[in-house]
Amino acid sequence: MGKVKTAIPGLDELIEGGYVENDVIIVTGGPGAGKTTFGIQYLVGGAMNYNEPGVLVVMEETPSRMIRDMWRFGWDIERLISQKKIKIIYADPFKYTKFVKIPDSSPIGIVAATKNIGDIFKQIQTEVEAVKAKRVFIDSITSIKLSSGERDVRQIVSEFIKNLEFLDCTTLMTSEIQDAQEFSVEEYLSSGVIKLHIFRVGGSRVRAIEILKMRGVKHDETLHPYDIQEKGIIVHPGETVMIDEVSLLGTAGAK
Ligand SMILES: Nc1ncnc2c1ncn2[C@@H]1O[C@H](COP(=O)(O)OP(=O)(O)OP(=O)(O)O)[C@@H](O)[C@H]1O
Ligand SMILES: [Mg+2]
Repeated sequence: MGKVKTAIPGLDELIEGGYVENDVIIVTGGPGAGKTTFGIQYLVGGAMNYNEPGVLVVMEETPSRMIRDMWRFGWDIERLISQKKIKIIYADPFKYTKFVKIPDSSPIGIVAATKNIGDIFKQIQTEVEAVKAKRVFIDSITSIKLSSGERDVRQIVSEFIKNLEFLDCTTLMTSEIQDAQEFSVEEYLSSGVIKLHIFRVGGSRVRAIEILKMRGVKHDETLHPYDIQEKGIIVHPGETVMIDEVSLLGTAGAK
């Protein structure tokens, strides 16, 4: 079973050396938890340190904004693009929504459904082949879900994940927490779920990472602190975050 380095210092040792090759892993957490940073670090680290090119699918923000924000960590995404080590696909969720959310009564014909989940997958496949990518990062699956209508969500997400698993790439996908009490469909359907928590303890903020699941891996089950620093995210596997049940419930409710 091949392993893929996470490029996050301290994380590999919590999951027996890295992600399982060809898996689809969900990175979930509240606003500002560091989900985007986590995924970009995976792509940049792969491109720079492991000779593994990557494809980035941007849905939440514009690519230029993301490139600018990630520059703060010293990651020169533009250079990696020019070296064909990273390729960006910009799937504007608003355009996408416009094409997909069509009322049943709308006349046939205006639905130039040039963009749907299948097209996005085909685009990913094309770019993966173009740069011989081994890593894919999709930010985020929530946009795809919101534009696909309640009824079909499970089937759409399931098909998308299955297709990604056949790509010969290892994929990270962010997911926003929508209901703190419930798990989302992609968390059940993916091979792994990593959760980035932010707790408020007393007057300060504590960031903690949790491996909720990693199929086929004897993974760590405790909460470990992580920091967002000058060079990106760092996990501290030797330290544990102790959060009692009461404060855990408190933060979930206050999300
Ligand atoms: N240079 C830095 N040093 C320390 N922390 C930083 C730095 N840059 C960003 N951060 C922290 O990272 C957070 C944003 O990270 P990121 O965009 O990866 O989170 P996210 O989970 O993707 O957020 P969103 O839900 O908005 O998409 C900021 O809110 C800030 O707390
Ligand atoms: Mg983000």
